[in-house]
Amino acid sequence: MRAPERRGLPPGKMPELRVMPAPSDANVYGDVFGGWIMAQVDIAGSLPATRRANGRVATVAVNSFVFKNPVFVGDLLSFYADIIKVGNTSITVNVEVYAERNRLQACTVKVTEATLTYVATGPDRKPRQVPPLESLL
Ligand SMILES: CC(C)(COP(=O)(O)OP(=O)(O)OC[C@H]1O[C@@H](n2cnc3c(N)ncnc32)[C@H](O)[C@@H]1OP(=O)(O)O)[C@@H](O)C(=O)NCCC(=O)NCCS
Repeated sequence: MRAPERRGLPPGKMPELRVMPAPSDANVYGDVFGGWIMAQVDIAGSLPATRRANGRVATVAVNSFVFKNPVFVGDLLSFYADIIKVGNTSITVNVEVYAERNRLQACTVKVTEATLTYVATGPDRKPRQVPPLESLL
């Protein structure tokens, strides 16, 4: 399915997640807590990792995390997640977050960029090998 064109968002890509922070996600100044954004980034990154692992994954590391611009209550956030490395048991994902500000979404700003590593795990919660790509087709 082709992604809809939205002004200022990466063209031709589908976000893994779209979320609007609520007042309870912000501090007294109306800026959204970094920890709330980190949680959404972790969820967004885990989605392609879970598909690639064909099963459960656990976050083993947040390799980098940059808050480039503040996020405000009412921003419509789009989380784009791309696998950048597949190891023996690990999958590393780059996540970019864009905010469409105000209800008319007239202004789009990149707010966050992060890289996280997930590990494919079995029912015993121990690492398991990431299945070969061919086995998923
Ligand atoms: C994830 C977990 C199962 C991995 O088990 P482990 O015995 O520590 O794993 P290993 O040392 O064998 O490493 C597994 C893979 O992770 C990678 N890895 C481990 N630490 C890493 C780090 N700090 N950064 C990047 N990759 C890392 C290893 O390189 C390896 O990758 P590869 O198999 O592709 O080469 C275990 O650490 C765990 O349960 N952690 C808690 C997970 C969790 O609760 N996450 C949520 C936190 S809020």
